[in-house]
Amino acid sequence: MTKYIVEGGSPLFGEVHVSGAKNAAVAIIPAAVMVRGVCRIENIPQISDVTLLLSILRDLGARIRTINANTMEIDCSSVRNGQVPYEAARRCRASCYMMGALLGRFGQAEVALPGGCDFGGTRPIDQHLKGFKALGAQVEVQSGFVNAQAKDGRLIGSSIFLDKVSVGATINIMLAAATAEGLTVIENVAKEPHIVDVANFLNSMGANIRGAGTDVIKVRGVESLHGGTYSIIPDQIEAGTYMAAVAACGGQVTIRDIIPKHMDCISAKLQEMGVEIQEIEDSLLVRRVGPLNKTNIKTMPYPGFPTDMQPQLAAVLCLAQGTSIITESVWSSRFRYADEFKRMGAQIQVNENLAIIEGVERLSGAKIEACDLRAGAAMIVAALAAQGTSEITNVQYIERGYEDVINKFRLLGGRIAAVEIPDESGDVRNAS
Ligand code: UD1
Repeated sequence: MTKYIVEGGSPLFGEVHVSGAKNAAVAIIPAAVMVRGVCRIENIPQISDVTLLLSILRDLGARIRTINANTMEIDCSSVRNGQVPYEAARRCRASCYMMGALLGRFGQAEVALPGGCDFGGTRPIDQHLKGFKALGAQVEVQSGFVNAQAKDGRLIGSSIFLDKVSVGATINIMLAAATAEGLTVIENVAKEPHIVDVANFLNSMGANIRGAGTDVIKVRGVESLHGGTYSIIPDQIEAGTYMAAVAACGGQVTIRDIIPKHMDCISAKLQEMGVEIQEIEDSLLVRRVGPLNKTNIKTMPYPGFPTDMQPQLAAVLCLAQGTSIITESVWSSRFRYADEFKRMGAQIQVNENLAIIEGVERLSGAKIEACDLRAGAAMIVAALAAQGTSEITNVQYIERGYEDVINKFRLLGGRIAAVEIPDESGDVRNAS
């Protein structure tokens, strides 16, 4: 087990490279199961969710060759259909994409239901299952597994209207439909950048998907997918996290290798707070010198403000002048970090899906516990901005989604180190 020790209070300066998008990678790796050939995937972030999904593919017989730190060749020509066990589903929700991928490839999938939600509420998959059924699959949920079976071995294109804008359902149905017979029209879909990236990946492997990034996706099923090369887009949320850190700590940082358009919803809020942001080709120069202004935030599906940036911006708002209100409208309960922030001196009251933040002049270092991936990232932001030393535990959540986070912050002047928690013999080793 590792914890992070953070000495806060220093501004950040320099340049940070943004890695490949976690939420695209965790869909594209399962999608590779549908490809009868070698897909070379570039810009894969080195994060634990990716490691876990690759191990699921290996267990099914995929051959995986590491070309360099962020490039892999995945050959699923001879994968067999098999069960995705609870142990994998519990540790990574994106394992549910194996349902759409295996259904598309084999006409049958048996995947353990994902475990409970990190955010404290439920994370239903009813819209995923509704989509599979519309494509002609018989779907049963039994003994903790979803078992989906296409009649006659192949799904059939259909029209699906999602009751709720869902990233997961949009991707899962798109995967299943890619090799179904005929046309599938999916309406009221999610439009996040990683939806477009998954569609682009599938198209580069021979699929015929149009409309990703709009409200309606049309998938004309093809017989099979072939090998190819694909490079994953930069991570909008990782980039936003470094922007939030500059806002909270002050300083000037160039956020490199991003798609600036994806950042508009986050940049707009930071600018309202008094942060200067300048677009330079595929970078953003982020600078904060003066005080931070209060603002209100409401999370929405893309192109609205992303729920996955809500905790990091809450950390910044803790230091803004005045009272800010955050309305969380995607997840019913995503303020579990509030109690940890209070230990650092933040004034934050949570009332159902609202957080009311009264800005304070400074936060103070404390022992805090990451309760999920983005809350953990927000704790790094808060700890870097705070006066004094913080200890962040449960950092395995953070490592699910942030590549090389310690070194990236260190290069910006952040005083942060990963330290192994003593084992039974009392030994302590520096892990960073
Ligand atoms: C994905 C992201 C997650 C992000 C979320 C919203 C990945 C791996 N994870 O999660 O980081 O916070 O999008 O941007 O990409 N819902 C239903 N029925 C369903 C599916 C969803 O009611 O079948 C509801 C959920 O309870 C939630 C909302 O729809 O309120 C959005 O969920 P969804 O977009 O599906 O989130 P995930 O794909 O799980």
